[in-house]
Amino acid sequence: MRYGHFDDEQREYVIERPDTPLPWINYLGCEDHFGIISNTGGGYSFYRDARLRRLTRYRYNSTPLDTGGRCLYLRDDAAEVGATPLVWSPSWQPVRRELDQYECRHGMGYTLIRSRLQGIEADIRYFVPLGDSLEIWEVTIANRRSRPANLSLFAAVEFCLWDALDDASNFQRNLSVGEVEVVEGVIYHKSEYRERRNHFAFFACSAEVAGFDTQREAFLGPYRGWESPSGVQAGLLSNSIAHGWQPIGAQHTRLQLKPDEAKTVVFLLGYHENPPDDKFDPAGSQVLSKRSLTPIIARYRQPQEVEAAFLALRHYWDELLGKLSVTTPDPHTNRMVNIWNVYQVMTTFNLSRSASYFESGVGRGMGFRDSNQDLLGFVHLAPERARQRILDLAATQLPSGGAYHQYQPLTKLGNNDIGSGFNDDPLWLVLSLAAYIKETADWDILDEPVPYDSNPELAEPLYGHLQRSMQYTLDRLGPHGLPLIGRADWNDCLNLNSFSDTPGESFQTTTNKDGKVAESVFIAGLFVLAAQEMVGIARHRGEADAFSDAASKIEDAIWAAGWDGAWFRRAYDDSGNPIGSKECEEGQIFIEPQGVCVMAGLGVEDGRAQRALDAVADRLATVHGIVLHQPAYSRYYLHLGEISSYPPGYKENAGIFCHTNPWIMIAETRIGRGDRAYDYYLRINPSTREDLSDVHRCEPYVYAQMIAGRDAPAHGEAKNSWLTGSAAWNYVAITQWILGIRPTFEGLEVAPVMPSTWDGFKAERYFRGVRYLIQVERTGPGNEIRLEVDGHPIEGTVVTLPPVGTQEVRVIAKVGPG
Ligand code: BGC
Ligand code: NOJ
Repeated sequence: MRYGHFDDEQREYVIERPDTPLPWINYLGCEDHFGIISNTGGGYSFYRDARLRRLTRYRYNSTPLDTGGRCLYLRDDAAEVGATPLVWSPSWQPVRRELDQYECRHGMGYTLIRSRLQGIEADIRYFVPLGDSLEIWEVTIANRRSRPANLSLFAAVEFCLWDALDDASNFQRNLSVGEVEVVEGVIYHKSEYRERRNHFAFFACSAEVAGFDTQREAFLGPYRGWESPSGVQAGLLSNSIAHGWQPIGAQHTRLQLKPDEAKTVVFLLGYHENPPDDKFDPAGSQVLSKRSLTPIIARYRQPQEVEAAFLALRHYWDELLGKLSVTTPDPHTNRMVNIWNVYQVMTTFNLSRSASYFESGVGRGMGFRDSNQDLLGFVHLAPERARQRILDLAATQLPSGGAYHQYQPLTKLGNNDIGSGFNDDPLWLVLSLAAYIKETADWDILDEPVPYDSNPELAEPLYGHLQRSMQYTLDRLGPHGLPLIGRADWNDCLNLNSFSDTPGESFQTTTNKDGKVAESVFIAGLFVLAAQEMVGIARHRGEADAFSDAASKIEDAIWAAGWDGAWFRRAYDDSGNPIGSKECEEGQIFIEPQGVCVMAGLGVEDGRAQRALDAVADRLATVHGIVLHQPAYSRYYLHLGEISSYPPGYKENAGIFCHTNPWIMIAETRIGRGDRAYDYYLRINPSTREDLSDVHRCEPYVYAQMIAGRDAPAHGEAKNSWLTGSAAWNYVAITQWILGIRPTFEGLEVAPVMPSTWDGFKAERYFRGVRYLIQVERTGPGNEIRLEVDGHPIEGTVVTLPPVGTQEVRVIAKVGPG
């Protein structure tokens, strides 16, 4: 069952009814100012940091689901339904009066909601303009009745007192600090501005206002909710000024519309920072200076400026999406690669795991491991931003080569609460940096001095950071010569050094074993993969390669202690017993080491890779995707940490992690099985799952972190959509390995391992300033590649850079029998 459809032409997903199984959301903003918006206008806004600079409140876990947010109300000032006036929300929530027509279009950085009730049409466009820190809601109301309409339009937001965590807990203080100013149709939210904040929020209306409210209780009425504010019911606001309690911004404007007349009203919800020497106006008063903000508000009150800003946003996305586009025989692949997957990659790059409908915005900072992996899908979109991110991440690395697990985006400092000791973390920096250099050939980045622990006195060229990342693993080898796992590796919940039997204690920060025994085969595979990148980098610098000997030793250790006979083992626990082995009662085989070891090339030549992947197919693959392990843990095992705290089939206890599935897709391409790789790709591709929306329940246009595994009663149900490493990895798997368009240090490789049923496909890729027009043609079964570049056959599969000044290169790839 579906709740909408894709409009690929417009690059939009069109939701056809408001009551989707869960709120289906979109993101506004792509630089510093962000909003999360649901298909009924729910969600919240923030400036840069969803915890510390939250503009509006949001109640996670509330009932009814997803109320509040961006509230719009229409009131027919001439009509009454029984004794009460006709009031509705053109975005359905919060009033939830049934609409005659409804449609929500989520697009690239904007959302449109259109609806109609009793001949009154509403057309709302929400977006954040590039370069400014505000959210625009452009509301157009049209009268399609045969008689004049007399309407009131209300817009309302509930301000958050900046720190969202404090706002939701520190009531004894917060209920006394709220302050606002209202001047010329603009509501200024200035709680705490009198003291240490130079920023404030504003909510402006482009039309003449008939009234406003800034005190929540005055607007809603005592013991009433957002679904029927008393001010809206009465058609009259009370011009309340908030002192303490709950500051809101509510605007009221009246619309008199002749038949077929339409009017547009613009609401602006924004954030502004004043320079410290222009904080008050007049200086010395307590009135906030509006000097630098007034021109911005004046600009966007004009509809033509709004239109221009919207076109600029469209153009920005045209450019980004134009970096790689493909035409394959499959529409699901095309729309994910060309539109939605890239869009999600950008969103995860911007927000890491901070703010979604499953991440409350008050929790995690930027994950070291997460952000490095997000970069793998992102580098080609905005290389200069990728560069900065890499430098920021590396600056939080510790002199030991280890890394803070997270850093805070506002301060860019490592997060002490969670600390370090996740032993896979540093290796991901090698992968992201290699991906960045392959994309850009910016070798100079390696000489850039970068601090350790954010301390400039400890700076060293970035290349040194890479070496320490590698050395960190080698300094921590266990009894089998495999890397020690530390607090956890990729699987945050396999905590082999923290045995917790205290309710509520964090598995990830409690360490009660000395950590000298538990080892990770996953980190071993990742080390081998990273070592291959280090070889490429050292070769280019004309230096001796320092890590391939170590990598061969680790490979030997994998074969000696990490191979279980038919697949790779997962780890060794603190007692030295294997995990992910046929010897185990439960958790006999895990997906992660099969993926990473085969990606690193282990067993590709001698058939063991194929055996491992066959085991994945037999034991882990389901119609909804590949689960993390089998059998699921049916009870709690103290010595494994958080993993078995989840009921079977959910999350790390044998859920389908869409992040790890692409590793298997890539591994399958490494052994030439394009059909299988692509089959796995389609199983979790959100667009192919659109028809199952009643089972999948999350948005059909983005990946979710997890789909419930076969051991869960709700097998196939997705959770934790949007902010997940699944975005980058699925993008890498399809574009670089199945379609095979892969940046290398030497040039652009074209080596697809595509489905046997495809005749070919076309692609356009901008790479190091050159446009590559790629045409792939199947000549028969098999994966042998013959390349012609601008009409000339070349050796191998890498297209080296053309002479300087060349703008376009045509590549024909013939794929077939050897
Ligand atoms: C979740 C993991 C996540 C981790 C983040 C755990 O509770 O189950 O999926 O990686 O928290 O800190
Ligand atoms: C989500 C976390 O953000 C990521 O770092 C981790 O690898 C996965 N969960 C698996 O535990």
